[in-house]
Amino acid sequence: MNICQHFTLCGGCRLQDISYKQQIKEKRANVRALMNSFSIDARLKKINYGKPWYYRNKMEFTFSDRKGVICGLYSKKKQEGVIGLTECLIFSVDAGKIIKCVEQFVNSNNYSAYNKYNHTGFLRNLIIRETKFTHEIMIGIATTGKEELDKHEFVKILRSLKLRSTIKSIYWIVNNSFSDAVVFERKELLFGKKIIQEKLGKFKFNIGIDTFFQVNPRMAIKFYKKIKNYSRLSRKQRVLDLFCGAGGIGMFLAQKAKSVCGVEISPEIIQMAEQNAQSNNIKNITFIVQEARRFLNTQGKPYKGVDLLVVNPPRCGLSNRIIRAILRLEPKKIFYSSCNPSSLIENLSQLQTAYYIEFIEPFDFFPHTNHLECFSVLNRKAFQDKDIDNGDSP
Ligand SMILES: C[S@@+](CC[C@H](N)C(=O)[O-])C[C@H]1O[C@@H](n2cnc3c(N)ncnc32)[C@H](O)[C@@H]1O
Repeated sequence: MNICQHFTLCGGCRLQDISYKQQIKEKRANVRALMNSFSIDARLKKINYGKPWYYRNKMEFTFSDRKGVICGLYSKKKQEGVIGLTECLIFSVDAGKIIKCVEQFVNSNNYSAYNKYNHTGFLRNLIIRETKFTHEIMIGIATTGKEELDKHEFVKILRSLKLRSTIKSIYWIVNNSFSDAVVFERKELLFGKKIIQEKLGKFKFNIGIDTFFQVNPRMAIKFYKKIKNYSRLSRKQRVLDLFCGAGGIGMFLAQKAKSVCGVEISPEIIQMAEQNAQSNNIKNITFIVQEARRFLNTQGKPYKGVDLLVVNPPRCGLSNRIIRAILRLEPKKIFYSSCNPSSLIENLSQLQTAYYIEFIEPFDFFPHTNHLECFSVLNRKAFQDKDIDNGDSP
């Protein structure tokens, strides 16, 4: 079995010592157990899965002070701090070379690592993004504003690397916040393009240093194509895509629908979504920057009884208030997808009062970790399926 040399210590993934076949079996069994505990009586489809190695398109590594600065991921026991990495089998064949090169650069410049307990030091995170179909790399170094980065040298040594993919973009990000997350207070493009580009099927997607993109592109394309097929939309029907991100699901559905409206809280991500729609020549999709619940309560009226509502919220799922707003909206059909089966199943049990759950279908976007994407189809109880086929719009 293929096991990363850092597996016993690194907290990046926890299941590499279990065969992938067994992981799939256990993940599906966990979803079944959750469904039982919330009395969800629906069909659970087989898990969709793909290549379990080198699948991630983004990692955020952390700098830490040891004897010199190291760069890597938090240990399985978080209190043991960061462990330095020379490979990352769930991410990229190029990861080790890039990390080692950056470690050499920061140590030869005597930069210090940031200490989150006393808010001192300079180096915080190394962000690497790698597209899987177009083989482009974007690198961002996140620091506090306490020192000056030798930008010229940083770009030079990275560009001198011999890698499988090509470095197309390098950023310096300044983050003085107390938060553990990477906050893009200031970002400076040091080299190349502002964005890298991924290709999923016939669509091109722009990916910025700070934009959300499905973490596993090889699975994302399977997921988007299946969603499109399940939608059975006609050119008379409208789609509302809440938490739309950079527009992935909406763009695939726009090929069949009359129109799609995507709603997303982040203006930067919406800007990316608009560029994606434009560069793929999709004219029947619009995007709105708005918090999802606020949108439903203030601008939702025209979507009362909408043919298809898509929801793909963050891990925390939907709040009680947004569930109530969705029930008031009375969409004929709901596609609910989530990377957190627990919050999904809990929300499904709340939506069950007005919707039949046709099925739940897992997609393993995250091999060797406990995470799992689950997609579900819900049909409004008071609504007949024949009307969906007729393509009646409200
Ligand atoms: C799981 S991602 C959606 C991905 C997208 N459907 C795709 O396929 O690329 C969730 C998105 O919801 C956005 N978001 C988080 N909270 C939100 C809220 N309260 N209202 C609207 N959007 C929100 C995030 O910025 C993120 O882009």
